[in-house]
This record gives sequence, C-alpha cells and structure tokens, in this order.
Amino acid sequence: MSQAAVKPDTRQFRDALGSFTTGVTIVTTVDAEGRDIGLTANSFNSVSLDPPMVLWSLAKTSLSLAAFVHNPHFAVHILAADQRAISDLFAKRGADKFAGTTLARGEGGVPLLEGCSARFQCRTAFRYEGGDHEIFVGEVMRFDHFDKPPLVFHSGKYGLVVKQAASPAPVPVDEAAAESSFSRDFLGYLLGAAYSQLFKPIRDEFSRRGLSENEYYLLSILGVDEDLPLDEIGTLMSFAGHTLGEELIAGLAGRGLLVRGDGRLSLTDSGRRAMIELFAVAKSAESDAESELDYSESQLLKQLLRRVIRSTSRGLPPLLRKR
Ligand SMILES: Cc1cc2nc3c(=O)[nH]c(=O)nc-3n(C[C@H](O)[C@H](O)[C@H](O)COP(=O)(O)O)c2cc1C
Repeated sequence: MSQAAVKPDTRQFRDALGSFTTGVTIVTTVDAEGRDIGLTANSFNSVSLDPPMVLWSLAKTSLSLAAFVHNPHFAVHILAADQRAISDLFAKRGADKFAGTTLARGEGGVPLLEGCSARFQCRTAFRYEGGDHEIFVGEVMRFDHFDKPPLVFHSGKYGLVVKQAASPAPVPVDEAAAESSFSRDFLGYLLGAAYSQLFKPIRDEFSRRGLSENEYYLLSILGVDEDLPLDEIGTLMSFAGHTLGEELIAGLAGRGLLVRGDGRLSLTDSGRRAMIELFAVAKSAESDAESELDYSESQLLKQLLRRVIRSTSRGLPPLLRKR
C-alpha cells in the first residue's frame, strides 16, 4: 500500500496535537540590554535525569528569540492551577509582562517568578533547528518544587487535574436500589447530604444567637445583596422554601438587625456585624468540607455544581438563575 505525503492542514494538525495534555510553563531570561524577557510555553518536557536536562521549543517568530539565543541562562516555571492570568499575560506578544511582578534573581540574573508549582534554572546545553521552532535543551543547575497543583492545557483550553480514585468507585450491591431515585448514588441524595453536613455548624451558630432558619435566610440574602426591594426578597425566599412575612420582618427589625424603608429592606450595623460573624462560620465550614480536596478539585466541584444549577434553573426568573 502506498501512501502519499500530505502536507498536514495546519488547523487539523494543531487540533490533533492538542489532544496531548500538557502543563503550562513560563520561560524567562534576560536580553543583551539587561531587560527581563519571558513567554508562556507548553512545549516543555523532561529529557534526562543524569545529567539533569529539560527541553522546550520557541517559535522563530517570537520577539524573545534573540534573548534566548544570546543568554545561556533561562528559568522554566511550571505554573500552578491558580496562575491562569499570568499565563495569559506572558502569552501576549510584546506585552509589558513583568510590571508589578515580585521577582527573585537566579543563575545568570534571570528573573524568577513566585507562586509556581516548580521552577528549573538552566544553562543552554544544546540548541537545535526544529522547523519553524528553535529547540532549547537546558542542563538544570538548580530547581525548586513547591508542590502546588498544576495548571493544565488541553485542546487549546486550560484545565485542572483531577486525580482518579485509587480504586474504581464501588458498584452498588443492590442494583435495584441503584436504579431508584433514593439510592446513595442519586445526585439529589449526595447534594442533600453534603449540604446538611456543611450547614450544621452554621445552623448551630444561628440557633445559638436565637435566630430561626427563616430569619437567618432573610439576613443572609441582605448580607449578599444590600438594600433589596421587598418583592425580590420574597422571590428569593420562596425559591428556598421560606416565606417573607410581616412577622418575620417586624421581629428582626425589633431586634435591631434590619431596617425597612421605602419598600426595601437593609441590614443595620449590628445586623451586618452578625452576618459577618455568621459568614466567617460559613467560610470555616466550607474549608472543613474541602479539606480532602486540593485547589483544582474544589474549583472543579464548584464549576460542576454551577452547571447543575444552571441546567436545573432553566425557566426560573432571571433573579434566581444568576444567584
Ligand atoms: C498555553 C500556551 C502555550 C504556548 N506554548 C508555546 C511554546 O511552547 N513555544 C512558543 O514559541 N510559543 C508558545 N506559546 C505562544 C507564546 O506564549 C506567545 O506567542 C507569546 O506572545 C510569545 O511572546 P513574545 O513574542 O513576546 O516572545 C504558547 C501560548 C500559550 C497560551
């Protein structure tokens, strides 16, 4: 069987390459005039353990090429999951990339960025032609490992790493129960169980302060959106199964926690203070709930829950959908 040599369609070739998932790095150096230079690169890879070597490739069209050819020293920063903004900045051609950045100096005076997951200070050992790119192989002189979850790049988009469970999720023993909407695998059960456990310390705290769930709910709406009209508050309350009645408003106003004026409700200073304290309890309950998740996993969990909320809130008033 013969095969014709086909010049790959650039778009399709790029898409195919994009199915290889990589981390994201920023590679830095200093140019002949002493200016800090850097760019985002995902072509990084390990080459050798002994001697320790890494490689990456740089487009020949890059404004940074002359600096990396001139300076034998460079530093590779493997970006952490929360460094997407700096990745975007260093991917902008000709941008003022180092303004306002905290820097240290490494081998050969190259700029070292903070907050990354790992950092390698290198000396260029070899340089190769690689089509429209120049390949740099660096000998690693020093490295730092900060053990933060990494930023990921796949199919032209950033991603987060989610580790697979050590063993596959257990298959429910009772298949009939698994089919039923009351199984422990049911999303509603999982969300409900997670919510009621997460909410327990918050409930304990507002009960200790003599507040009912209805009262807490009204105060927390006002804590998020100051000075809301009564009809919007009523809609938000009913969405969560609560009712906004005269008695509820009068009770909280009588205790000096909220004021009513011109068809609107807002927190008083002591209402705001109470809510700040309750939000602190809520924040601590949230970090306890996330204690077994790393940064990427908790970001992913929130993103997925937002998607579930979006897909289950179709047809609801816009006020509820945007919350
Ligand atoms: C995730 C990501 C990975 C990239 N990887 C590389 C790479 O490996 N090599 C490269 O030359 N450009 C890469 N780029 C593009 C450069 O960051 C971009 O062209 C930058 O503007 C170059 O800056 P400069 O022209 O100021 O040197 C990447 C961009 C992104 C967003």
